[in-house]
Amino acid sequence: MRLDKFVCKSTELTRHEAIVKINEGAVCVNEKVTTNEATQVHENNAIVLNGIRLKARDFRYILMHKPAGTICSNIDEMYPSLFNYVDVENVSELHIAGRLDADTTGLVLITDDGRWSFGITAPNNKCGKTYRVGLSKAITDDVAIKFKQGLKLQGEQQFTRPAKLEVISSKEVLLTITEGKFHQVKRMFSAVGNRVMSLHREAIGDIFLDVEVGHWRYLTRDEIHSLTKR
Ligand code: URA
Repeated sequence: MRLDKFVCKSTELTRHEAIVKINEGAVCVNEKVTTNEATQVHENNAIVLNGIRLKARDFRYILMHKPAGTICSNIDEMYPSLFNYVDVENVSELHIAGRLDADTTGLVLITDDGRWSFGITAPNNKCGKTYRVGLSKAITDDVAIKFKQGLKLQGEQQFTRPAKLEVISSKEVLLTITEGKFHQVKRMFSAVGNRVMSLHREAIGDIFLDVEVGHWRYLTRDEIHSLTKR
């Protein structure tokens, strides 16, 4: 990791403040003054700021219930960022592992561990994401087979991976997919002549949404490991 990032992660300093301190010569790496903020360092290096050895904070892993009308972005845009609901320190260091559309609700995973989120969203991770979908028209019998076989979405060369459809009622289904193409669920139903009216993510892998809308909690150690050991 870069030295400025390490200093930020292990202190209350902003990125800019960390760079200033490093450029001033206030930081030593393995007993050598290091003024280049881009220097690559490892947590095992002895990194000292003004005589005090820094210890990297542990990574954070958060489950959140995203409200409708919020966006999976670190800043407010057309809609408020869902990070407005996450009252932790250094919130700007966090990012989302698997975004949802502004109108989609449900389970979102948030972290500052880039390697972990890359593992979850990587194409070869077959981690299932389960959505409760409200439809404009009654579901027809052929859709479960089509989704299981995979279909070509508009503008895509490859077929979608096998997906599991469970019918709850004529216009409500549970859909589990193992990939995360742009607007994938909406485009899958559009490809079979239907339209998504409501979309809510209930689970990612074995982690189920269990907090109220707008609330969050830290993941347990077992939950953190469960998503990357597939
Ligand atoms: N698929 C979509 O179309 N939208 C989402 O928000 C998530 C999956």
